[in-house]
Amino acid sequence: MSNDTDAVARVRLHKDGPEISGVVWGSMRMQSQFATSTELAGHLDLLRGRGVTTLDTASVYGHPDPFSLEEALGEALAKAGRNKFEIVTKCGIQRISRLRPENRVRHFDFSAREIRRSTERSLTKLGIDVIDLMLLHRPDYLMDPDETAGALDDLVSEGKIRHVGVSNLSVSRVELVASRLKAPVVTNQIEFSPLHLSPVSDGTLDHAIREGYRPMIWSPVGGGRLFKGEDEQTVGLRTLLAGIAADYGLPSAAEAAIAFIARHPAGGVPIVGSGKRDRIEGAIKAANTVLDRQDWYDIVARTNPSLFL
Ligand SMILES: NC(=O)c1ccc[n+]([C@@H]2O[C@H](COP(=O)([O-])OP(=O)(O)OC[C@H]3O[C@@H](n4cnc5c(N)ncnc54)[C@H](OP(=O)(O)O)[C@@H]3O)[C@@H](O)[C@H]2O)c1
Repeated sequence: MSNDTDAVARVRLHKDGPEISGVVWGSMRMQSQFATSTELAGHLDLLRGRGVTTLDTASVYGHPDPFSLEEALGEALAKAGRNKFEIVTKCGIQRISRLRPENRVRHFDFSAREIRRSTERSLTKLGIDVIDLMLLHRPDYLMDPDETAGALDDLVSEGKIRHVGVSNLSVSRVELVASRLKAPVVTNQIEFSPLHLSPVSDGTLDHAIREGYRPMIWSPVGGGRLFKGEDEQTVGLRTLLAGIAADYGLPSAAEAAIAFIARHPAGGVPIVGSGKRDRIEGAIKAANTVLDRQDWYDIVARTNPSLFL
């Protein structure tokens, strides 16, 4: 029932690029997962050895201090080899942090000034000359689309950003941004998992197919909720996924969840947040596994029976 292989496919997010690894590693939790930059560099070596060469990060990431993560990632990249990875980062989320004393409240900012400032900071902190893919992180309801698109296009023409995408944007907002940008929108990075099914029915995945970009998928195992949840629905879903995993020779429910994402024709690229070798290897296997239609719908029915009404 499976066609597994241990190699990660290379995928194009959009006809005009970029090409990335078919499993992406998400760095958001790395400050809890790795105590030193040497440990993290070892993990980056492992990822590269397995073909997972695309790293996802964001200017706001950091624990315990928001905005502290990119610098720590940059230190590890210096050891592991900066030019061996494609870097995806994001701008626009503002949180209260000792590193941003000007922020009084949480907010979102897609102004030209903030996009440029965030880009310059990410380049410096990560120690790179160009960002492979810059995403607008979460909707800024005060966005002036001409200003936002103009700032991104300028950074592309200056060679600081290679490609532009969005994250967590509704279809109408993706279209609004795309209508003012010269650069193509090459992805919408969204949450999608057996625990979060709305993209299958709210038009988000349909839009990706129609416009010819692949979405990037965050929290494919619900950020670990799939394993921690003790409510009846999560326990039932976990049991179902574990059974499906066993049928396909996958190690656990986590890999069945990733195969669930991969089965959708939008070709979503999973961003895996685990810091564990086995789970990265499992994710690669899962991304190459084609679930049977009825198994896929069995998962949908467990999470959202109303889709069948
Ligand atoms: N664009 C956005 O707004 C947005 C939002 C959130 C995240 N992201 C991106 O997406 C990436 C992935 O998100 P995520 O970290 O939430 O993804 P995830 O892969 O769903 O969750 C990772 C978490 O689940 C745990 N986990 C994985 N498999 C497990 C298993 N079999 N049993 C128990 N625990 C398990 C991991 O622990 P271990 O480390 O112990 O394996 C880790 O704590 C982030 O790093 C970030 O780059 C983007």
